[in-house]
Amino acid sequence: MSDASTGAANPHLAQYAAKGLKGRILSGVQPTGNLHLGNYLGAIRNFARLQGDYECLYCVVDLHAITQPQDPKQLAAQTREIAAAFLAAGVDGQKQIIFAQSTVPEHAQLAWIFNCVARVGWMNRMTQFKEKAGKDRENASLGLYAYPALMAADILIYKATHVPVGEDQKQHLELTRDIAIKFNNDFAAPDFFPVTEPLIFGAATRVMSLRDGTKKMSKSDASDYSRINLTDDADAIAQKIRRAKTDPLPMPETPDDAEKRPDADNLLGIYAALADREKDDIVGEFAGRQFSEFKAELTELAVAKLGPIGAEMQRLMKDPGHVDAVLRDGAQRARALAGPILDDVYKTVGFLKP
Ligand code: TRP
Repeated sequence: MSDASTGAANPHLAQYAAKGLKGRILSGVQPTGNLHLGNYLGAIRNFARLQGDYECLYCVVDLHAITQPQDPKQLAAQTREIAAAFLAAGVDGQKQIIFAQSTVPEHAQLAWIFNCVARVGWMNRMTQFKEKAGKDRENASLGLYAYPALMAADILIYKATHVPVGEDQKQHLELTRDIAIKFNNDFAAPDFFPVTEPLIFGAATRVMSLRDGTKKMSKSDASDYSRINLTDDADAIAQKIRRAKTDPLPMPETPDDAEKRPDADNLLGIYAALADREKDDIVGEFAGRQFSEFKAELTELAVAKLGPIGAEMQRLMKDPGHVDAVLRDGAQRARALAGPILDDVYKTVGFLKP
C-alpha cells in the first residue's frame, strides 16, 4: 500500500495523522441485486478491516444504480440490504459512516461541476461504460455515460484520501485523480482536492463463476449455481460448491499447474481468501488429492465464515428499523462533512452565496 509514497508530501493527510489515522476512505456499493461472495471478498470484507486505520465512509450508491432501469420497490429494499451487509460484515455504524448516496445531495451537486471539468474524450475511454452500454450505445442513459464523474464526486465531496478498489474500478479511480488535478489547476487552487490513492487488496479480489472459472462471479448470471449469495444458507452453499465445475484430474500439484486450470484455481483462491491464507499454501495442502475431499473442506469453511454474516443480514432485514436509523444518522454526519466542502467548491467556482 502507498503510505510511504504519500507521507509528508500530501497536505491532506496531516489532520488524520494527528488522530493516529492514515487517512479518510470512501467506498460505494451499488444496490442492484443480491450480494455474492465476490462482493464480499473483493470489497465488503475489507471495509471492516480498514476501520481501525482510516476514517471510513461507506455509501450505498443508489444514484449510480438508476443509470440502468431499476424497480423502485426493489431499489429501496436492496439499499437496506447493502447497508445490512456492511453491518453484518463488521462495520461499526457508529464509529464509521454508513449512508445512502441520494440522502446526501452534495454528491449530485458536485457531480454537475465535475461534468463540466471532465472531458468527453476521457469519458469515451471508460471500458465499463462500453461494457454496460453494450451494442446499443445510442440507447444508453446519459447518466451511465456520466457515471464516473459522479463516482469522482462521491470520493472528492469528502476529500477522501484513499479508496479501496478492485481491478474493475481502477480506471474510474484514475479518472477521479484526473478530475481532482484538473479542478485544482483550472481554478488555481493547488491541493484543493487530494489526488486520491487506491488501496489494492491481494488474493481473491477476483472471484470467478462457479460454473465457468474464466468469467467473473456476477449477480447478472442466469444460473444461481454460478455464485454464492451472502444470504444463502448452509444447504445452498453446500449444494453450489458440490456442483461447482472442476476438471477430471486430481487437485493441482503446483501453483503453476493451478493457474492453467481456471476452475480449480478459482476454488483454491476462494478457499485461501476465506481462510486468510496464501493460495500457494492451499495448493500445497491439497496437491494431488480428490476434488470431492477439497470441496467438503471448502464447504465447511464457507459455511463457517459466511453463515453468521448471512444470518445477521437476515435478522437485520426482518426489522429494518435499526438499519434505517443507521442510514439516517450516517446521512446527517456525512452531510456535516460534505456541506462545508461544497461551500468551498462553490466559492472557488464563483457561485454567489444565496
Ligand atoms: N462504481 C463502483 C462499482 O460499480 C461503485 C462506486 C460508486 C464506488 N461510487 C464509488 C466505489 C466511490 C468506490 C468509490 O463497484
